Amino acid sequence: MAIKWSPEYAIDVEIIDNQHKELFNAINDLLEACNQGKGKEEAGKILKFLENYVVEHFHTEEGIQKESGFPEYEAHKRAHDGFIQSFNELKKAFDEEGATLSFVVKINRIVVDWLIQHVTQADKRLGVFLKKGTL
Ligand SMILES: [Fe+2]
Repeated sequence: MAIKWSPEYAIDVEIIDNQHKELFNAINDLLEACNQGKGKEEAGKILKFLENYVVEHFHTEEGIQKESGFPEYEAHKRAHDGFIQSFNELKKAFDEEGATLSFVVKINRIVVDWLIQHVTQADKRLGVFLKKGTL
């Protein structure tokens, strides 16, 4: 299974859309590394990159939300914090089992499904708020 950014995921905030593209690419690289049996080293490197990049990306979004007075900031931040917790569990699974099929299933469930849902709903509402000044 692959994950690919598409224009339907755009929230029309350039810096956020660019970071989302970067995230989608890294996740896709991770899935590929696992599926092609590139093994633990390559997948481990991408996981490390993702771990840092996710934090950076969430800071960008949360900063924009605070500055603009986005009314759903608190709930949005909670969603981000929850994801970071799940991501840490994913990392633990990787350390224990490596780039196994069950790990790939976990990436799809914990990262891919969450990200698509989050971008198309919660993040999209930020885009709407920034454009219209209201929700
Ligand atoms: Fe978000």
